[in-house]
Amino acid sequence: MDRKRILLIVGGGIAAYKACELIRLLKKRGHTVRCVLTPAGAEFITPMTLAALSEQPVHTSLFDLKDESEMGHIELSREADLVVVCPGTANLIARMANGLCDDLATTLLLATDKPILVAPAMNVRMWQHPATRRNVARLRADDTVVMEPDEGIMACGEFGPGRLPESSVIVEAIERELARPIPARLLGVVAPPPPQGPLTGKRILVTAGPTHEPIDPVRYIANRSSGKQGFAIAGALAQLGADVTLVAGPVTLATPPGVTRIDIETAREMAAAVENALPADAAVMVAAVADWHVDAAATKIKKRADGTPPALALVQNPDILATVAHSARRPRLVIGFAAETNDVIAHARAKLTSKGCDWIVANDVSGDVMGGDRNSIHLVTTTGVEDWPELPKDQVAERLAQRIAQALTEQA
Ligand SMILES: Cc1cc2nc3c(=O)[nH]c(=O)nc-3n(C[C@H](O)[C@H](O)[C@H](O)COP(=O)(O)O)c2cc1C
Repeated sequence: MDRKRILLIVGGGIAAYKACELIRLLKKRGHTVRCVLTPAGAEFITPMTLAALSEQPVHTSLFDLKDESEMGHIELSREADLVVVCPGTANLIARMANGLCDDLATTLLLATDKPILVAPAMNVRMWQHPATRRNVARLRADDTVVMEPDEGIMACGEFGPGRLPESSVIVEAIERELARPIPARLLGVVAPPPPQGPLTGKRILVTAGPTHEPIDPVRYIANRSSGKQGFAIAGALAQLGADVTLVAGPVTLATPPGVTRIDIETAREMAAAVENALPADAAVMVAAVADWHVDAAATKIKKRADGTPPALALVQNPDILATVAHSARRPRLVIGFAAETNDVIAHARAKLTSKGCDWIVANDVSGDVMGGDRNSIHLVTTTGVEDWPELPKDQVAERLAQRIAQALTEQA
């Protein structure tokens, strides 16, 4: 890879010293590194160390007139090819997610026209706190790359995700980002106007992906849903002009263009997000929602010395599809999905009636449909069953979107 310029923002965490190793590796790969140290970061590592390793001046204060005359903060934010935050503290992540710019680091992060990569490091509870989950989701939705932290014993003695990834892994992530085209938002390209089509003016709610039901801070109950079919449907509906809200379980798929995405983790969070997204003209409930949750333990459940496993008491989750179908704000068209491993059509017909929806898209998931790229579905309605041929998931999505457009236009 060509030599690149990296602006490295070092936050105030116990892992700040690992920035030294990162600088060494990046320099070894031929890159130039210029460091910015937050005031909290300076409690853990000195500007002198970073300056000596990077062989560049280190910047610490927004109001440093000497720096401003030699290199203004806007220029500093833009001269690099990539901005890297390492370690990314919970505090920096929170300020970035909210667009705050109350010191040099966050001002540069807001002013930059370059991609940003964050290597987070913090205590496991800080990483798993709903506020940090929200902040990370917000940053990712804004095109900031937030790496997953490593899991293991932490400096504070606790165990779980929150450790800074290995320096070599961060270098790999940095080089991957440097090789990627710059996101359109940063190029100043104005987003194209939303497509016009038969669904223009229609609001459609789509759910997709699995849910994760925590058992304790480090374990959860999940299923094999990849979210691919639901994301493809959301994208296809948006292409026909619909105003699409996609309530997505924990998946790493890119948000389809023109779709408003709300990330959730549990079935109960999905139920609340769905409720907030109503009213809508249609609801396409593709998500594989867990039927049960457990009352999660506040701390990691330990193995018992006598070898007896802990009992997990399952509690029924809300039935989101039935709730939407019986809601006072029921969309005109409510479509459920049925993932079955046997008697697919019979189960789908029963679900159509028991849930009170208009259509069921039934698929046999005994093969590799969950996670795969193809799907073979049966569209079960109150008037009959259509067997569709096996198709790539994006073609299933386009065909279904056309059917939805037809149904909403006929009903209008
Ligand atoms: C000993 C010690 C270790 C800390 N380690 C971390 C850490 O690893 N991650 C983190 O997010 N905050 C950590 N903090 C808290 C941050 O220093 C604090 O939130 C600070 O405001 C971060 O400022 P900054 O984000 O501007 O660098 C630690 C604090 C102390 C006293």
